[in-house]
Amino acid sequence: MRISPETVQQIIQAADVTEVIGEYVSLKKRGANMIACCPFHNEKTPSFYVSPAKGIYKCFGCGKAGDSVRFVMDIEGIGYPEALKHLAKKYGIEVTEKEVTSEQQQAQNEKESLYIVLEFASKYYQEQLWKTPEGQSIGQSYFKERGFNHTTIQRFELGYSPDGWDAFTKHALRNGFSLEILEKAGLSIIKEGKDPIDRFRGRVIFPIHNVGGKPIAFGARILKKDPNAPKYLNSPETAVYHKSYIVYGIQQAKNPIRIEDNCYLVEGYTDVVSLSQAGVENVVASSGTSLTKEQIQLIRRFTSNITVLYDGDAAGIKASLRGIDIILEEGLNVKAVVFPDGDDPDSFIQKVGSQAFREYVNRTQKDFIRFKTEISLKDAGNDPIKRAEVIKDLVETISKIPDSIKRSVFYQEVANLMGIEEQILVTEGNKISLKKVADSEKERQRQNRTQTQQVGDIDILVERTEQVPLPIQEEKAENKRSPLSYQEEECARLLVCYGAHVLERNVVENIDFTLADYVFNEIRDMIFETPTYEKILSVFRDAYKSQQIPDTSLFTSHQDNEIQQTVINWLSTPHQLSENWLKKDIYIPSETDKLADLAYTNVLRLKKTRYESEMKKLAKQLETAQTYEEQDQILMQMMQMKEVVKKIAGLLGNVIQG
Ligand code: UTP
Ligand code: MN
Repeated sequence: MRISPETVQQIIQAADVTEVIGEYVSLKKRGANMIACCPFHNEKTPSFYVSPAKGIYKCFGCGKAGDSVRFVMDIEGIGYPEALKHLAKKYGIEVTEKEVTSEQQQAQNEKESLYIVLEFASKYYQEQLWKTPEGQSIGQSYFKERGFNHTTIQRFELGYSPDGWDAFTKHALRNGFSLEILEKAGLSIIKEGKDPIDRFRGRVIFPIHNVGGKPIAFGARILKKDPNAPKYLNSPETAVYHKSYIVYGIQQAKNPIRIEDNCYLVEGYTDVVSLSQAGVENVVASSGTSLTKEQIQLIRRFTSNITVLYDGDAAGIKASLRGIDIILEEGLNVKAVVFPDGDDPDSFIQKVGSQAFREYVNRTQKDFIRFKTEISLKDAGNDPIKRAEVIKDLVETISKIPDSIKRSVFYQEVANLMGIEEQILVTEGNKISLKKVADSEKERQRQNRTQTQQVGDIDILVERTEQVPLPIQEEKAENKRSPLSYQEEECARLLVCYGAHVLERNVVENIDFTLADYVFNEIRDMIFETPTYEKILSVFRDAYKSQQIPDTSLFTSHQDNEIQQTVINWLSTPHQLSENWLKKDIYIPSETDKLADLAYTNVLRLKKTRYESEMKKLAKQLETAQTYEEQDQILMQMMQMKEVVKKIAGLLGNVIQG
């Protein structure tokens, strides 16, 4: 491994699980735990638990579990060393950097290589802006003209791409990056028979970061007015950049959004930067495209309130009204603000300052349904046909709100605003709901019919099964388990969870006899047959042999995900969640009360099942034995084992009766 074990330990210890996960979702306190909606699958009620004391998380919906490092690996899609480096950076822990070439060669997958080259590019554009004469005179003076100060430019990591053909591409090649990865990252453009060129040339650069703060794409704005060139050039879709899954500014805005419990949604890069500079930091941009469900779900990790800030042009607003339905559908509360004609949030805040800006927003913001009703009504005037259309349209919007109480409040309000009976709206809404139910039923049937034909969709299907483990499948897997594997699991579980528990105390010699002492004295160097439990047993044994009874964190922070998941499952069994039981006034003897019995019977059962399976093997051998001598020998062995099994059964019987 490239990072020393001491540094790994340092990183694991520093990486507080709630802090790390809190970067990606809003955690709420629930008893001793923190909960949130799971960032790995889509859900509206939380089943994702974080235990600060144990340093672990587990989703009871999709089954994902691990510690801080595992979380970063899964959410960013990167390997173990990269995740450690990511955390080291966050906690200011020095990890000796290898040169880029070897780092790139060691990248575990394409995503990781892309992150590395994108980070490299972002640094390059920033250097160009700050350190080259061209960047200083052209790039910096543009930002200055836009009113962005140094701190802001640095906070958003803005940059400049020099006006040449291939300055960046050459620089990257010299530093060991391959043309292939440069093209895959959307940084270089390769055309047949021509030399590769930079995608971004002579533009100022707005890096787009993912929630964890890694640059994943760039937006590049032209500096001069040129009707033939697009104002912004953006990175293409890549393996790490899916435009419809990200909003611009989320890295800088996530904490402010959580604190304010509200998110301002604007259109452009410059709106985000300007507002943030003026102290309105809870702001993100959809970057000029229509909103998607995934973008809303990303915002929903931090708040359930969105305020849409519209540029002051009427045509634009009408066109985008429909897009807001998607926010309502995801169950969020939406407000809307319109700026005076000709102004966007950027120009407005620069004109009036942040205090007047806030006052304006607070004074004019309207609940979205009311906002839409007023605009539509103004448009329809007294034309009865148009008014009927407006009603249909509003009902359609309201029917998308998942919460029935909210829906009924809005039906009331719209009825008042339009001067009609509320019941008309409700009836109309029910029609839509019924149709939706019928449609989805039809769709379900259609899917059932075509399920086996969807070979082309394999990606989606695979993802689905990964995210929603079917309980039936689990059950099947359980059924296949051998009796021995249950005993091995129980043995490993007792060791990991209670290894240090003292079974007997020798006061005279001041020696404690622990559960681990007992178990290892009994099982010695036994090797488990189930690979998972054998892995755990041998990790435990290694530590035990060096005179230490390992802490559960050795397993919950283990690099091996199988070890991690298994142990976290043990730690979140009903025994451990006994809070609920206590509430119901039922006395359940806690596991620690009967550990001695548990360990004793487990060791006996473990031995018994091993002998039994050994006897089965001997029986097979007996069938194929060639000589009488051989047969006799096998029979002898079997008899002896039978005796032992009988004895153990007797001992077990005593325990159960006693
Ligand atoms: P704007 O034209 O309002 O851009 O487009 P802006 O960021 O406010 O830029 P300024 O104020 O003119 O400097 C809004 C958003 O639409 C996307 C960008 O994400 C932009 O921020 N857009 C616009 C493009 O992607 N390409 C374009 O050519 C124009
Ligand atoms: Mn603008």
